[in-house]
Amino acid sequence: MTAKDRIVLSSDHAAIELRQTIAAHIEARGWTVVDIGPTTPESTHYPRHGEAAARLVASGDCRFGIILCGTGQGIMMAANKIKGIRCGACADTFSARMIRQHNDANMLSIGARVVGEGLALDIVDAFLTADFEGGRHATRVEMIAALEG
Ligand code: RB5
Repeated sequence: MTAKDRIVLSSDHAAIELRQTIAAHIEARGWTVVDIGPTTPESTHYPRHGEAAARLVASGDCRFGIILCGTGQGIMMAANKIKGIRCGACADTFSARMIRQHNDANMLSIGARVVGEGLALDIVDAFLTADFEGGRHATRVEMIAALEG
């Protein structure tokens, strides 16, 4: 199994159940899931889980990351602090597809208190089945990278 098949999943306490549902869903689609927890419901700090997942993507260990918290916003903000990470928080399938096609996103964030299970799985599918279009979008993604310093 190579990095191109591996997806890291992480969340805070607000999204454990949805994260586990997503893990089973994408495993059934042939992906190898690297679920780095947490598994217990105690309140925890989303930045540390966003960072941990982002580091596995930035290092090349995993092709994509899917992260969740209550809104999908806080954990996305943390992940985007890691160099090389382009993470979008999505509550609709159009955005999930477009962050792959236009922004070459390597991480997807979902809010477990924002979307229901059915929509969350559709968002994941939209993200994972779309491809980066390159061309003028590559120039813009390079401009994002240049901002990282
Ligand atoms: C936790 O209560 C909540 O703040 C967190 O899951 C997330 O929504 C933050 O962005």
